[in-house]
Amino acid sequence: MGRLIVVSNRAPSVDGSSDSGGLVVALIEALAKNGGLWIGCAPEQSDTPTEDLVFHQRPDFDIGLFELEPELYRDYYLGYSNSVLWPALHGRVDLIDVQPRYAKAYREVAKRLAALIAKTARDDDLIWVHDYQMIPLAHELKELNVKCRIGFFLHIPLPDLQTFKAIPDWKDLAKWLSDYDLIGFQTRRDLGHMINIFRHTMRGELRANGTMGIAGREVALGSFPISIDVSGFRRLAAKGAENTEPAPLPRLIGVDRLDYSKGLPQRLAGYEAFLARHPEFRSKVALLQIAPPTRDDVDAYKAIRSELEHLSGHINGRFGTVEWTPVQYIHRAMPRNELAVLFRFSRVGLVTPLFDGMNLVAKEYVAAQDETDPGVLILSQFAGAAEEMTEALIINPHDPEDIARAIKTALEMPLAERIGRHSALYAHLDQHNVGRWSAAFLKQLLSVQRLSPDGVAPFPGSTPWTQTA
Ligand code: ADP
Ligand code: F6P
Repeated sequence: MGRLIVVSNRAPSVDGSSDSGGLVVALIEALAKNGGLWIGCAPEQSDTPTEDLVFHQRPDFDIGLFELEPELYRDYYLGYSNSVLWPALHGRVDLIDVQPRYAKAYREVAKRLAALIAKTARDDDLIWVHDYQMIPLAHELKELNVKCRIGFFLHIPLPDLQTFKAIPDWKDLAKWLSDYDLIGFQTRRDLGHMINIFRHTMRGELRANGTMGIAGREVALGSFPISIDVSGFRRLAAKGAENTEPAPLPRLIGVDRLDYSKGLPQRLAGYEAFLARHPEFRSKVALLQIAPPTRDDVDAYKAIRSELEHLSGHINGRFGTVEWTPVQYIHRAMPRNELAVLFRFSRVGLVTPLFDGMNLVAKEYVAAQDETDPGVLILSQFAGAAEEMTEALIINPHDPEDIARAIKTALEMPLAERIGRHSALYAHLDQHNVGRWSAAFLKQLLSVQRLSPDGVAPFPGSTPWTQTA
């Protein structure tokens, strides 16, 4: 096998300072094994982008940064990626903002990036493309006759066919997805949606081995639920807790980018319903919501920010006293070790997205708990994590009363039940950490056997891909 080439919109930092997030940790081993390369957008845009990737060497792998003009970047990232694809794939078709220049920029970035990758890729390299910002890449690489196996992992949800069809370019998107050799999803739910989309739009046929035959070629598909470095996060929380005072009141915690998909107004409505129904808990609990800014030049994000500020002010005004603030709202990012301790010292973790690919916060909350006195996770049925984390209290985020009931149940849950639920959740996470996720995806991508037109397999040593699935 040649190198592993990872491609994502955001690249890891050149000095390793932001590696703790999971994806980089997950891929470092695989990248180091065969001299890997990670390609991503340069953190700063440039009016005069370089014509080649700008390479940086890290001890275990190389980073290749591509530069874009500020306007092109804006139309590609804030425009098509986050004002068309993000809302549509999260089922918020009402928020789609269609502008012809957005779609043009999205294609242009994929074309440019493909040309840069084609200069460096060798036939036996594996290319692993990440997320919705990069969907056309395999198509563009194949146009340039790049012969590597190319895999794609979607970190966000894939909606059903009807919702998908709300994207003006849905036929192109389906075609571009079918150009990958392997497509990975967070959940069986999203995998099912993909199969249905391929069936109905490209006459895709599901084969007995789990692959799909589409337009004369085979595409492998799979569900690969992403995770975190479970034991690493647990150690971080335990260490930090040694010199931190626990919270004065039993705490409920929410930690999310300030995104409309995260169900933050619904969470506050549930908390408000809980305080309204159970006056005995007033002054006895507090909700800490940490929601750092994200994509805040997009109108929908400005709107969710003012809605959240309004709602937290409303609850504090309605129930607060001189001594007690029911909602503490922090609009900032926090160092990971501080988050880990906050999770550990919170009696309830509130994760209430309206639609989410996975939701890693749910996994971090569980990993951070003290197993002798663990807190309780309340989890939306619409988070991908709910497929695996069945011992959480599963709620419908659209129903404030359901959230209110779960909060009460969580706060009153006896220690033995908390330990039972937590140990089952932790055991599952420990078995399915992020290292296992990346290894499973890469194993399947490696086993894909692309045949050249003369029927010869160009990748010596790989198993015939009909044996995979
Ligand atoms: P998404 O990828 O949509 O943001 P996830 O829940 O899957 O949602 O992942 C979010 C990641 O960002 C988690 O690792 C979480 O700890 C981190 N994060 C969220 N809020 C903050 C914050 N205020 N400070 C630092 N990290 C944060
Ligand atoms: O989970 C989807 C995702 O795009 C991640 O890939 C990314 O880390 C996160 O959301 C934050 O998004 P952005 O890179 O746009 O800040």
